[in-house]
Amino acid sequence: MGSETPEDVFDEVTGRDSSSIFKPKVTALVVSNSERKGPNLMTASWWMTAGYKPFRYLLAVSNKTYTHEIIEENPEFVMAAPSVEMVDALTLSGKVSGRDIDKIEHLGLETVPGSDVDVPLLKNATGNVELSVLDSFEFEGITYYFGDVENAYVTPDGLDGRILSPDADVLAYMGSDWGEEETRTKYRYYANLTAEAIERFPGDEVVESLPEDLQEEF
Ligand SMILES: Cc1cc2nc3c(=O)[nH]c(=O)nc-3n(C[C@H](O)[C@H](O)[C@H](O)COP(=O)(O)O)c2cc1C
Repeated sequence: MGSETPEDVFDEVTGRDSSSIFKPKVTALVVSNSERKGPNLMTASWWMTAGYKPFRYLLAVSNKTYTHEIIEENPEFVMAAPSVEMVDALTLSGKVSGRDIDKIEHLGLETVPGSDVDVPLLKNATGNVELSVLDSFEFEGITYYFGDVENAYVTPDGLDGRILSPDADVLAYMGSDWGEEETRTKYRYYANLTAEAIERFPGDEVVESLPEDLQEEF
């Protein structure tokens, strides 16, 4: 091992800022719905895929949110991928609680009823995934929901093979930061991924560098 330290090689950042190095990430608009409370929207970046057979997602929901109350009443939700025109919906749904305002109505968002979940899809989103909660666990005031994918939808021609089409209208989130001046405004940064930004990298060439017996396994 050399005598270099991580600090010699890198700038150190806080744990919070470490998530910036894994951006862009598509922040989801999570739709929930219960008979008593009606539909609600929440901005959510704490999600990951969590299994293949069946395909699953894991979503972290703060117990303080209205969304948590609703999912506890009806264990289903929709994860919508916002299109560029939905930037205001992302901001508002991440700040204001559905306890205080009907966000879907206020934003004038059009919805489509879910096929296998009693939760609406967002009509102008780039895609929508219907999920039913399979299991959940709680850790430090946050509930982690495992959702089985019931159905998934993308705008017509939104996929190019298995890849999101370069022409798809998707809003990738880069994070937020305070403005330089003394202000209460938090600036949110998005990447509008255009076709030019997407490159195809060679898939398997690196395998050829492996010893021959190991190569045969691939
Ligand atoms: C970019 C962004 C990402 C967020 N991600 C999450 C998340 O993954 N889980 C969560 O519980 N809250 C998250 N929040 C906060 C909620 O969106 C926020 O508390 C919202 O007002 C909750 O709405 P509700 O009370 O109507 O459910 C996020 C906020 C922003 C701005």
